[in-house]
Amino acid sequence: MSVRSDAPLAIVGAMQEELAALLAAMPDARPETLAGRQFWRGHLEGRPVVVVLSRIGKVAAATTATVLLAHHGVRAVLFTGVAGGLAEGVAVGDVVVARDLLQHDMDASPLFPRHEVPLTGMTRFPADAALANALAAAAQDVLAELPAHLPADVQAEFAMTKARLHRGLIVSGDRFVATAAESARLRADLPDALAVEMEGAAVAQVCHDWGVPFAAVRTISDRADDAAHADFGRFVGRVASPFSAAIVRRTLTRL
Ligand code: ADE
Repeated sequence: MSVRSDAPLAIVGAMQEELAALLAAMPDARPETLAGRQFWRGHLEGRPVVVVLSRIGKVAAATTATVLLAHHGVRAVLFTGVAGGLAEGVAVGDVVVARDLLQHDMDASPLFPRHEVPLTGMTRFPADAALANALAAAAQDVLAELPAHLPADVQAEFAMTKARLHRGLIVSGDRFVATAAESARLRADLPDALAVEMEGAAVAQVCHDWGVPFAAVRTISDRADDAAHADFGRFVGRVASPFSAAIVRRTLTRL
């Protein structure tokens, strides 16, 4: 498929709260419903975009991505959301930009090596380097200008002034990882995994099939441990939504 350079960029969000923050900055956005999903076409930072909620889990996100790519002719896909921190040093409030993505619950062994997606020969789906660099630079800018994006009490509550950027492996699976035992198992299986979520590797696989550049950024909402559920809830509304909208908007100005 050849894609025109003035084709829209897709922004896929994992949470309604984030989408709302982006749509608030898109007064010209109009929804089109397909497969039960609302695809919002409009402009953000002067660039043509299509914004859509991925829904939760790999199948839902892959369906969203497939409909998006089949019907909207987008030139690239940016995924934004929250994730559980896995690697030591990946703390709540930190930002992770994917270098590559893997499905941690894919296991067709002994027919195929563990974690390999059957018939693709691939275990890790790489993010587009240029897009990932733009996301990382935007995230650095936003982290350096926290007061412009988050009220002081929210920064203090989540120790956001200590937040850092990480780049590397994000793993996805159809489980909300909410026990220390399960995150320890993931760390043992995949020692270089920085963060865990439920959609990214599925969307990366669909984009790979279509030859469309893909990149993902996740803000860490919890440590994927016994406190994950409570931490996730507190973080999403107060930090993740304004924060990831700011990163996406800043990324668009860099493309
Ligand atoms: N998204 C945010 N936190 C998560 C967790 N602990 N497990 C899976 N997905 C997540």
